[in-house]
Amino acid sequence: MSTATYDFDGKTLLVTGGAGDIGRAVALRCAADGAAIALVDLDEAKMATVVDDLRATGRDAEAYRCDVTDGEQVTATVAAAAARFGRIDFCFNNAGYQGLFVPTTDYPEADFRKVMDVNVVGVFNVLSAVTRHMKGAGGGAVVNTASYAGVIGPPNMLAYAASKFAVIGITKTASRDLAPHGIRVNAVSPSLIGPGFMWTRQTELQAAAGSQYFDSDPKVVERQMIDSVPMRRLGSLEEVASTVAMLLSDESSYVTGVNLEVTGGQ
Ligand SMILES: NC(=O)c1ccc[n+]([C@@H]2O[C@H](COP(=O)([O-])OP(=O)(O)OC[C@H]3O[C@@H](n4cnc5c(N)ncnc54)[C@H](O)[C@@H]3O)[C@@H](O)[C@H]2O)c1
Repeated sequence: MSTATYDFDGKTLLVTGGAGDIGRAVALRCAADGAAIALVDLDEAKMATVVDDLRATGRDAEAYRCDVTDGEQVTATVAAAAARFGRIDFCFNNAGYQGLFVPTTDYPEADFRKVMDVNVVGVFNVLSAVTRHMKGAGGGAVVNTASYAGVIGPPNMLAYAASKFAVIGITKTASRDLAPHGIRVNAVSPSLIGPGFMWTRQTELQAAAGSQYFDSDPKVVERQMIDSVPMRRLGSLEEVASTVAMLLSDESSYVTGVNLEVTGGQ
């Protein structure tokens, strides 16, 4: 576990998917390093508990209900957060949807579009709005959440894999476009992270999908997945959070356009 700390005093981090497992962990980790936090998500009730947790640590935090697939809502949210905190230095562009677990020939178009809308259009909307603000303010750092699925293309996850390959592409081009403006753009690609909502969901749905790759018992699927990891364990939410904090921090000041895999060596 990381014992590194970064000096985020006076910095503001905007986190999308801030009500979810990884978004919450990154918000808490960066708040511990001194950052004020603007949380963005659809789930107001869960965001309220995260804001309480953040304020209990003595940091400033505010929740913004926003659908990242709606560019106008995103632009208004970024403007409101920038006005409320005075600045946005960092963005963890992380809201995501895993999609259905269905073989390629049967994957429904409607869900394919939904996955692309949240994971690709959403990432684009947030990236463009937040970096328009950062450009005018002299720079910043963004970390987009991709996935190891966007590196290997796991079975039964056609839309999700496609969307996460796209996030890595967005990261590469944006890093080139934004380097002249003092903005670094990187991605993290977690693999098997848990315990958490997505870990449980994927073991259950891979088991139900019925393929040559996984057993039909979710408990056996858990073991099959963990056995594919050289470190033979899940990564923790905190291990993703410490990687994101490192990429946001000045310790990574010459790092941009990178997709950093957080996979236990997969
Ligand atoms: N948990 C894992 O094992 C894992 C592995 C690889 C990648 N990821 C990625 O990490 C990110 C976070 O995942 P998580 O594990 O915290 O999942 P999660 O489901 O706990 O969190 C996702 C959050 O995104 C929010 N969200 C979804 N659609 C939205 C929208 N249109 N507008 C605003 N918010 C929206 C949800 O309300 C939720 O709070 C996702 O991009 C996911 O694809 C997760």
